[in-house]
Amino acid sequence: MPIDFPAPNLHGRDISRKLRERITQELLTGSGWMPFDQYMHQVLYDPELGYYHNGSQKFGSAGDFITAPELSGLFAQSLAEPIVNILAQMDDPVILEFGAGTGRLAEDLISVLNARSVNPRYYILETSAELRARQQSRLSATSTQVEWLEQLPTESFHGVVLANEVLDAFPAICFIKHGHETRPLGVQVEKGELAWAEGNAENTLSEMVEAIESRLGYVLPDGYRSEISPTRNAWITSIAGVMKKGAILTIDYGLTEREYYHEQRNSGTLACYFRHRMHHDPFLWPGLQDISTWVDFSACARAAKEAGLSVAGYTTQGQFLVNSGAIGKLDFTDSADAIQAAQSLKTLVLPGEMGERFKIMLLSRNLYLAPLPGRDFRGRI
Ligand SMILES: C[S@@+](CC[C@H](N)C(=O)[O-])C[C@H]1O[C@@H](n2cnc3c(N)ncnc32)[C@H](O)[C@@H]1O
Repeated sequence: MPIDFPAPNLHGRDISRKLRERITQELLTGSGWMPFDQYMHQVLYDPELGYYHNGSQKFGSAGDFITAPELSGLFAQSLAEPIVNILAQMDDPVILEFGAGTGRLAEDLISVLNARSVNPRYYILETSAELRARQQSRLSATSTQVEWLEQLPTESFHGVVLANEVLDAFPAICFIKHGHETRPLGVQVEKGELAWAEGNAENTLSEMVEAIESRLGYVLPDGYRSEISPTRNAWITSIAGVMKKGAILTIDYGLTEREYYHEQRNSGTLACYFRHRMHHDPFLWPGLQDISTWVDFSACARAAKEAGLSVAGYTTQGQFLVNSGAIGKLDFTDSADAIQAAQSLKTLVLPGEMGERFKIMLLSRNLYLAPLPGRDFRGRI
């Protein structure tokens, strides 16, 4: 364990021990190996002990990470610009937010939209019962009625789908290259501990990696490790399947395919967060740390186009926020919180912070849209 890691409290250790024992038992009584996406799903989403379900703090300074809407209301104000434009083209405006965390983005967005006399129905689809309860208590006082959905609407959907830092939390397949062969990476028990282990080569994964290599025009080098997340493509396809008119706005840390699978990025993008320490060990305190992988936005764009959506925008979070016009409306003069507000703004837009790592992608169907504020990077996808 890295030396500056704070120790979890007794309750946390107990949760983590139970989850580790459960997975260990499954491995020892099963085939002895589990693919990484299955492990990631279990440690994040086990209904009782998983990170997003077990009641741990997660968000904010006392938690493990901080997201853009938690940092500043500027985020919602900036998103309101394209959203108002989209909702103006709807007879019955609807927003559907996936993975709403503490509910802060919904709260801010509803307030900004209502102030502009835009009153959409607001749906939230949240897999974590614990977070849904937090959202319900926070949003009970909002004037717009918020409704929680159990699943994507099955009838035709007209509206805006919003997902901030949700796609990075989808389970990812990890792989390693050995010459021309691709092997899945997974988990086994080694000397009583959970540890990385290679699985047997299998066709579907090999074909997915070969398709990437063929688009790139080179074979990924020996020993190269990375990730791939077909569930993100499936998410886009399933929304496109019911969206008759509308848009998906997704914001996350991510790259184009060429950047993602650059030969020098040879150990992938897997990142774990525990009390604001970023590291790369997914077996440290299972159930108590967030695990994520960066988003391949080229794969998202491809899935969208295959499902009949247009890629209406792609830029960096920094470019988007700086050019959205919302910063000019911030008042730094007489607020006691001015220093904090300026600090949050820097974190959101500076290239070394969230400004360049985070991208915003707009996918649309049957809409007339102005380009997203900021430089248009669609040519790089
Ligand atoms: C990193 S948090 C981001 C929360 C919030 N969007 C924010 O920006 O603060 C990830 C969120 O996605 C939710 N989530 C993960 N997978 C999901 C899925 N398949 N459908 C809906 N929500 C999901 C988690 O429960 C959590 O609320």
